[in-house]
Amino acid sequence: MKVGIVGLGTMGTTHAASYQNIAGCQLVAVADIQPERSQSMADKYGVRGYATLAEMLAAEDLDVVDVCLPTFLHREAVETAAEAGKHVFCEKPLARNRSEGQAMIDACQRAGVKLGVGHVLRFFPEYQRAKAIMDAGEMGQIGTVYTYRGGGGFPTAWQDWYARYEWSGGITLDLIIHDLDFLLWTLGDVERVFAKSTWGREYDRMEHVLVSLRFANGVIANVEGTWLDLGAFGTKFEFACTDGLLIHDSTSASAFTSYQLQSESQGGNGGVAVPESPLARDPYTLELEHFINCLHEGKEPMINGEAALRAVDVAVAAQKSIATGKPVRPERG
Ligand SMILES: NC(=O)c1ccc[n+]([C@@H]2O[C@H](COP(=O)([O-])OP(=O)(O)OC[C@H]3O[C@@H](n4cnc5c(N)ncnc54)[C@H](O)[C@@H]3O)[C@@H](O)[C@H]2O)c1
Repeated sequence: MKVGIVGLGTMGTTHAASYQNIAGCQLVAVADIQPERSQSMADKYGVRGYATLAEMLAAEDLDVVDVCLPTFLHREAVETAAEAGKHVFCEKPLARNRSEGQAMIDACQRAGVKLGVGHVLRFFPEYQRAKAIMDAGEMGQIGTVYTYRGGGGFPTAWQDWYARYEWSGGITLDLIIHDLDFLLWTLGDVERVFAKSTWGREYDRMEHVLVSLRFANGVIANVEGTWLDLGAFGTKFEFACTDGLLIHDSTSASAFTSYQLQSESQGGNGGVAVPESPLARDPYTLELEHFINCLHEGKEPMINGEAALRAVDVAVAAQKSIATGKPVRPERG
């Protein structure tokens, strides 16, 4: 599988490194509108560099396009790649709303290509283990869940796009969508969403959010995300169950100890803080390897467009709740 990446910021750089460790595929080209980024990445991996996706598609015989562009540019890039007959891996969130995401899914279906989305938490061992424990009912019935994700200060990125609500969807769509996808995967459909955020300190920045979810199975979850914390990036979850409390805290040495090392922090040095892993095959490599294997085996990726769109629906419901002050039912839980 010959792969080309478009968008060479934080995630494009991460994906480019990952492809070096995945059998059955080869990174052959990269594209970024910042020529120095395209050039230095091309030099680093001995591949060809381009300014745009269109140029890369015209010059290369790719099998896969990996879209690591800011969220508001996902739709156009995914549709362009699909129409050119390429399989597409797209970073999360898939889209800013259901109609945008559905159009991307439809374009891939029309073209007969596969679409995979980067909900990487499903490849972090502590999250996989928590889901397995809950699925097996090892801790009895789940009552409530709390998740936390944040730190590292507000992300710096191309054109300050994270700070522009129309472009990124704010922290609700951008950051905590990781936890929303994990909770949908683990707990099933969401019936109601109530959310509150800080909004408006600097143009349309949204820096802190708390979202309450009621699931169809009766579980209540509180999902917290923040860029206000200038300390190290960290993640947490707590499952309160009839037989005990399951805790993961990436900043503590005592909770979920066997999985503690998987989530060390990065932050404050520019870009957007993302969880890192000391594993040789980190979760970002594992998610891309899963996608490449699905292409070889003709299987549907675990996180396809439909799965990713469910998380978008819940994030959009949270956005509506923040805007109206009322509880909101997701379009499709
Ligand atoms: N899975 C994760 O853990 C994770 C973490 C961070 C970001 N993300 C997601 O990854 C995506 C990218 O985020 P990022 O932090 O890497 O952004 P970034 O700003 O660091 O990088 C974006 C790059 O795209 C380039 N670009 C912009 N418009 C372009 C165009 N038309 N053609 C070619 N290149 C163009 C910019 O020059 C920049 O280099 C976003 O959707 C974000 O939500 C995912």
